[in-house]
Amino acid sequence: MDYSNTKCLAAYFSRKDKNYVNGSIVNLSVGNTEEAAAMIQELSRCDMFHIDTTESYPVDYTETTEVAQRELRNNVRPELNSHVEDMDSYDVIFLGYPNWWGTMPMAVFTFLEEYDFSGKTIMPFCTHEGSGMGHSESDIIDLCPNANVQKGLSIRGSSVKEAKNDILRWL
Ligand SMILES: Cc1cc2nc3c(=O)[nH]c(=O)nc-3n(C[C@H](O)[C@H](O)[C@H](O)COP(=O)(O)O)c2cc1C
Repeated sequence: MDYSNTKCLAAYFSRKDKNYVNGSIVNLSVGNTEEAAAMIQELSRCDMFHIDTTESYPVDYTETTEVAQRELRNNVRPELNSHVEDMDSYDVIFLGYPNWWGTMPMAVFTFLEEYDFSGKTIMPFCTHEGSGMGHSESDIIDLCPNANVQKGLSIRGSSVKEAKNDILRWL
């Protein structure tokens, strides 16, 4: 699809710092999902929005998995530190996130509940270490029943730098 006449936004959550990649812990200076979002931006010329929480997640990987699991179990809505001013003006939202415990980080739930996505197209993309999209797509449909939710793109986090052709095909 040609996005030149479409107002589109890549809204993504991504966590840098210590992460699990191909069986070992590495320190990422840019998160995997952010890398994918940057490629989408380059290819579609969309606007960008970083879904970020007021309270940061731990640098340590295992500690983050524990915090994230608690948030999922308790159905928490972490507070976000910034907001999209003119969401009404966008037709297409590329929605990016890492797979956390089989779905999106709870901050993405906060984001999806904050705006009215009726009539908009949501294109989910997810980076992961083996679980693909998990059940994130059906969670998005539940949260945004009046949006047109397209089939998502899952990208192995450890291969994100080689994902440009897959992203291009998906776009
Ligand atoms: C809290 C947490 C939970 C995760 N849970 C899963 C999971 O259930 N399945 C999976 O394949 N990968 C899981 N991962 C790995 C991430 O999805 C993967 O490393 C992703 O590319 C990270 O993206 P980011 O750097 O943009 O945050 C998890 C990582 C974290 C930090």
